[in-house]
Amino acid sequence: MVGMLYVNSERLWGRINDLAQVGAIDGTLGCSRLALTDEDAEGRRLVITWMQDLGMDIAIDGIGNVVGTWYGPDTDRDLPAVMTGSHIDTVKTGGRFDGNLGVLAGLEVIETIAEQGLSPVHPISVGFFTGEEGSRYAPDMLGSLVYVGGLGLESALDISGIDGTKVGEELDRIDFRGQSPCPGPIPKAFIELHIEQGPILEAENISIGAVDSVQGISWTQITIEGQSNHAGTTPMHMRHDAGWVAGEITSYVRHLVSEIGGNQVGTVGKIDLVPNLVNVVASKATLTVDLRNTDDEILKHAEQELANFCDTLSSQEKVQIHREVLARFEPVAFDKALVGEVIRVSESLDISVKQMTSGAGHDAQMFARVCPAAMIFVPSENGLSHNPAEFTSQREIEDGSNVLLQIMAKLSGLRHD
Ligand code: HGY
Ligand code: MN
Ligand code: MN
Repeated sequence: MVGMLYVNSERLWGRINDLAQVGAIDGTLGCSRLALTDEDAEGRRLVITWMQDLGMDIAIDGIGNVVGTWYGPDTDRDLPAVMTGSHIDTVKTGGRFDGNLGVLAGLEVIETIAEQGLSPVHPISVGFFTGEEGSRYAPDMLGSLVYVGGLGLESALDISGIDGTKVGEELDRIDFRGQSPCPGPIPKAFIELHIEQGPILEAENISIGAVDSVQGISWTQITIEGQSNHAGTTPMHMRHDAGWVAGEITSYVRHLVSEIGGNQVGTVGKIDLVPNLVNVVASKATLTVDLRNTDDEILKHAEQELANFCDTLSSQEKVQIHREVLARFEPVAFDKALVGEVIRVSESLDISVKQMTSGAGHDAQMFARVCPAAMIFVPSENGLSHNPAEFTSQREIEDGSNVLLQIMAKLSGLRHD
């Protein structure tokens, strides 16, 4: 343990609040900073300013990932960095803690170490990765996926968004297409602090989640081509109703999930109809299906059942149905030793802790491909997230940040007795 070293939670709470003002959603605690929008760019510039104030070297790569690296007076610059971080892009109706906490807690760890005049042997890096949410440009965790070499830079830059824009064009527009190479330098280890975004820690009155895995993620976009027709005059047997097919798929997802049971989840979060008018049978429908499970074989079964259902509907309603995979990540297991460290450090700080999996995707799962990685969860009030009312208390954030601090200090070889 690095004795008597604690974060300044007032300072961290203040930064969380300051960043939340960027793209703030009136009357709520939340913010809206979809990837590569002007709001995202403004948030990026603010965090970079804080990194510069801490004397960090800033690297921006070709997909817009921003990694700040800090060196103490005795740090060996040739050693691989110990990295933390997360994302500062949000969903459209996001909260102030999702992703932002992990980035700002990383800065707080550095400021705490620096103000004590301490020096880690390894450099310490804090990253925020482009488009983690995936809601504007799929897949999610886009930036960290490119950072670790899981997706080529050119392919990523060519991705079209839900609004028809391209990643590369928007990066240029907000001037965040950097020169640092992708894939990026492999860190010694990656540890991410994040809110749980679920109900478990709160329900069990536990302060820390030692995250040992992330469940599998399957995103599919389904496009249905029917035939527009008059809502009043067209007999039912003559319809090729894309709107009805979209509704059938939406209710089938819920039926499929309850049939599979266990921890299978399924969501239809986005439905667009054309022409979307009260008196016109829809000619086209586009919807997304998000399926997740900790067991990849069951997830594959769910995907196959959905595909079979679409085929049945297509011949029944005589519509064309096209399925496009937007994201597909297998379940990920984190580094056992690092997970054990989260548990050990929490217990040594006398903070309650439980080992658990993550229902949400995170940048750490991409780093698990190239280095030891793990996550630290803190509770979410009412299990709420991807909602402006998302909340975690300052005390819970202080606990999570102190666990992060101790782990980063140990990994980076900080000596302070
Ligand atoms: O969708 C997710 O799991 C994450 O919020 N990107
Ligand atoms: Mn997140
Ligand atoms: Mn999120």
